[in-house]
Amino acid sequence: MKKIVKKNSYTAIGLMSGTSVDSIDASVVGVNLIGDHVSIKTMANITYPIPDCIRKEIFTLFKDSSGSLRRMAALNIRLGNLFAEAVLELLKNTGLKPEDIDVIGSHGQTVYHVAEPLELCGEEVRGTIQIGEASAIAQKSGIPVVSDFRTADVAAGGSGAPLVPFLDQILFKDMSKNTAAQNLGGIGNVTWIPKEGEGVVAFDTGPGNMIIDALVSIYTRGKLKYDKDGAIGKRGKVIDNLLNKWMEHPYLKKSPPKTTGREEFGGRFLEEELKDIKANADIIRTAEEFTAYSIADSYKRFLPEEPEVVIVTGGGVHNSVIMDSLKKHLPRSIVEKGEDYGIDSDFKEAIAFALMGLWTILGKINNVTAATGAEHEAVMGKVSYP
Ligand SMILES: Nc1ncnc2c1ncn2[C@@H]1O[C@H](COP(=O)(O)OP(=O)(O)O)[C@@H](O)[C@H]1O
Ligand SMILES: [Mg+2]
Repeated sequence: MKKIVKKNSYTAIGLMSGTSVDSIDASVVGVNLIGDHVSIKTMANITYPIPDCIRKEIFTLFKDSSGSLRRMAALNIRLGNLFAEAVLELLKNTGLKPEDIDVIGSHGQTVYHVAEPLELCGEEVRGTIQIGEASAIAQKSGIPVVSDFRTADVAAGGSGAPLVPFLDQILFKDMSKNTAAQNLGGIGNVTWIPKEGEGVVAFDTGPGNMIIDALVSIYTRGKLKYDKDGAIGKRGKVIDNLLNKWMEHPYLKKSPPKTTGREEFGGRFLEEELKDIKANADIIRTAEEFTAYSIADSYKRFLPEEPEVVIVTGGGVHNSVIMDSLKKHLPRSIVEKGEDYGIDSDFKEAIAFALMGLWTILGKINNVTAATGAEHEAVMGKVSYP
């Protein structure tokens, strides 16, 4: 068993597969810790593909009630093996050895997140399940793995999400401008860092790419999984009636802390909102406008002030229709990408879990209660040794 020795600099790997199930993002980062000062340097990133067969199995689990526990139990190990392959590839690419890495922080694949408390046998509880077994990653890589972060926050009375504000706070606390760090994954989420650095507000803004991806897949009969560079949306026109109707979605009016996911903006949204509608470029353009408009609207409703700077990360930065629409809806903010601040937009979440895993083995608090609504702080994550 590897013992954790306290030192000033560490090397950590972060693994992330988000609600889009597009790929495993893996990053290796060097972390310097001197007193309260944290500095992070990304050493390498890879995007590791998720085979179509595994992606299909995951989507089958997303469909409430049709998911089979038997397949999920096995998929947990299968996906753990795949995460381990991503780590081995990252080690091979960088020439790093398992003993050079202090820890892997692995988010896992969310298969279900109960964001709103559910009454169960006389008690109201939330719950969350991420699969991609950490023991499999640890045994195959020879590196200790921290996983299952969200459950500790849920046990502390929080919603277990969003967790990335932990990194945003570290990255952007010295901006001296009112900053919104906006991620555009399957879901959109924002961290507000006021110019004083203290007083973070964070919540899921609503849909990111999730509705767009589903529509593109229907429109192209599965040939495309997303609207590459916004090419389809650019040919379409916003359908105002539909957009206004979608903007009435109750989630958008709910006050933070709040979190959402595939349960609200995945299959059920499409079934309820689009069952009689044929997917086309106009609908895809409308879904892109919905993402941008719902973000800007959430800033007006729930942020203390209009942000001076919006730093966008996540796969959605590559969709110029969403980015242009965001600029249009936020005329007084400077809208930029993670790259403008030295952060690779596709890997911010992987970097966040590398750092969160390191905090776990150091016994340091890594939930942001202002973001999750937890009653108390917690050291999230469980350790699996090789
Ligand atoms: N070149 C691109 N053009 C448009 N959209 C893109 C592009 N690359 C990625 N995306 C979008 O980003 C999504 C993945 O973003 P990601 O940040 O990995 O989200 P998640 O955390 O949900 O996995 C894809 O499903 C797709 O919608
Ligand atoms: Mg992803």
